[in-house]
Amino acid sequence: MKTIDLRSDTVTQPTDEMRQAMSRAEVGDDVYGDDPTVNRLEEVAAGMLGKEAAVFVPTGTMANQASIMAHTRPGDEIIAGAHSHIYYYEGGGPARLSGVSAALADNADGRIYAEDVHRLVRAKGNLHFPRTTLLCLENALSNGDVVPLEVMKGASEAAKEHGLKVHLDGARLFNAAAALDCSAADLAAYADSVAFCLSKGLCAPVGSMVCGNASFIDEVRRCRKVLGGGMRQAGVLAACGLISLKSMIGRLKEDHENARRLASLLAGERNITVADDRVKINMVFWQHDIKGFDDQAFIAFMSDRGIKVSGASDGWYRLVTHHDITADGVDRFISAFREYTAALKC
Ligand SMILES: Cc1ncc(COP(=O)(O)O)c(C=O)c1O
Repeated sequence: MKTIDLRSDTVTQPTDEMRQAMSRAEVGDDVYGDDPTVNRLEEVAAGMLGKEAAVFVPTGTMANQASIMAHTRPGDEIIAGAHSHIYYYEGGGPARLSGVSAALADNADGRIYAEDVHRLVRAKGNLHFPRTTLLCLENALSNGDVVPLEVMKGASEAAKEHGLKVHLDGARLFNAAAALDCSAADLAAYADSVAFCLSKGLCAPVGSMVCGNASFIDEVRRCRKVLGGGMRQAGVLAACGLISLKSMIGRLKEDHENARRLASLLAGERNITVADDRVKINMVFWQHDIKGFDDQAFIAFMSDRGIKVSGASDGWYRLVTHHDITADGVDRFISAFREYTAALKC
């Protein structure tokens, strides 16, 4: 029985097409700018997002942190979501790597609105204050929600009124675009720089892109080197990224459809609450009120049936669909889930 892994879309396997492309990829030393496959990927990515230039980096975290480093100076302040990946899940990177503080928008929905920007930006000319120089947005949010274009536009325009740059963490940018039925360029239009992942739902084994104007991307390239992310014959990885952009974006809607079906089946189970308003991309968040339900026992029970799941975090369980989860995989999870909860009621 094939194991299915619903913990995250970071577990996706590179496709056969990717593995073949890796073996054929033309490569060179990318730190010298000599890798034709990386150069091609950067050109394609920038074109798709409507930006002048792009740079290939190993991870989404480095894409964000190198962007912050390039946009700011030590002592500046950024505005970010209190639960944004940049602030909450990147090891304190903004403080440690760029020497910046963060003013946090702490809305329950995880979004940043224009009012937050106006409220959090520091008054100019007061020497007690750090300079606010950057607004960091995220879309899709890692809570499964997708920020509507009008909300992004409002926050971005507010940032521009105060002379801030805008960075968009779009680790799942193409999921957000599919959910909003718009292009990735429509989302990128509200940001000076955009980071997105080729891994996760797009199935590349490694790699993220930062897109922006040419001089900014030169600076990110420099920051990437400082952070140790200057790769050499990286064309073997970029070859997969090109396939992500060519073949994997169109199918993300299948993952979203599987997530919606999983959510509705789970919501039909007794004493289960699904966060319906957050089933926008490939993530399902749920809670239970079932006596005797034990996270470790549940994980082990599922694992015995070839299904990998995570325990709760902040009271919510998360299930993530992706390329390696079919509709049958959803059915397998639901029947194993029923088996586990039925056993508890005995
Ligand atoms: C919203 C968001 N941004 C950034 C990242 C970081 O990506 P990576 O794991 O490639 O560093 C993630 C990872 O899951 C994410 O969800």
